[in-house]
Amino acid sequence: MTVNTEKSREAWTLVARSDDVAEGGRQVIELGNDVQIGLFRFKGKLYAYENLCPHQSGPACQGRMVDGVRERIEEGGRSAGLAFDKDDPHIVCPWHGFEYRLTTGEHAGVPSIRLRGFGVREEGGDIHVAL
Ligand code: FES
Repeated sequence: MTVNTEKSREAWTLVARSDDVAEGGRQVIELGNDVQIGLFRFKGKLYAYENLCPHQSGPACQGRMVDGVRERIEEGGRSAGLAFDKDDPHIVCPWHGFEYRLTTGEHAGVPSIRLRGFGVREEGGDIHVAL
């Protein structure tokens, strides 16, 4: 069972089967009332975000997935350049390139900008989201 939420008091809605979201993969699901969510699985955990970019409402969850970039710091604090970080995947909004951390929904450069996240529960082969 995967529970990744602070919203566990919300109503749980069945949105997918476990097999629908492979490791490293995603599903974008239409829930009706013009609400879509992006479901992602990374290192066995599930993450759910509204498919609505805070910038100008683009379909952020349908964007490219890329490794985050971090600065490597040597002993003494000197920069050793930049490196891709496979432990920090990002989702890139297809409209204007805002980049969000998959594991938090935060914009990579401005953490106060974030995708709207939902709690996720996986049990008995079903995935539920707290809406
Ligand atoms: S709408 Fe997503 S970057 Fe502009």
